[in-house]
Amino acid sequence: MSLIEWVELPNLGDHRGALVVAEANKNVPFDIKRVYYILDSKPDVPRGFHAHQELEQLAFCIKGSCKMIMDNGLEKQEVIISEPNKGLIIPPLVWHEMHEFSEDCVMLVFASDYYDENDYIRNYEEFRNFREAL
Ligand code: TYD
Repeated sequence: MSLIEWVELPNLGDHRGALVVAEANKNVPFDIKRVYYILDSKPDVPRGFHAHQELEQLAFCIKGSCKMIMDNGLEKQEVIISEPNKGLIIPPLVWHEMHEFSEDCVMLVFASDYYDENDYIRNYEEFRNFREAL
């Protein structure tokens, strides 16, 4: 199965501008319990470098772009996130890294659960071991 799964949200925009709608359990494939956004990033300062044990996320660049590296321990793929209505699913147990943020980038993330540091795997070797033990 591909590591890259996109969710396309409807853009109800008209001559006034864009209007993009996200609805939990409809076009977003989980309950949205948390939303966070990342901005004022630096092109040469990557973020992420972790996997989650259970959390599901959907990440958009509603402005600008960044490169996302997705790694399930067996294969690694990279994609550019750059469309305000096209989000990348970040499933559990996928190591992910965000690189090359454009200076204007605003990343919006929907998450299936509240913040829980215990759900994070922040060490790559630990991530590999965790996957191998599955
Ligand atoms: P971190 O996970 O390091 O961000 P990224 O994965 O984008 O590099 O998060 C930075 C800090 O913010 C870290 O101390 C955890 C905290 N944090 C929260 O408290 N709540 C949240 O919803 C998120 C995403 C992070």
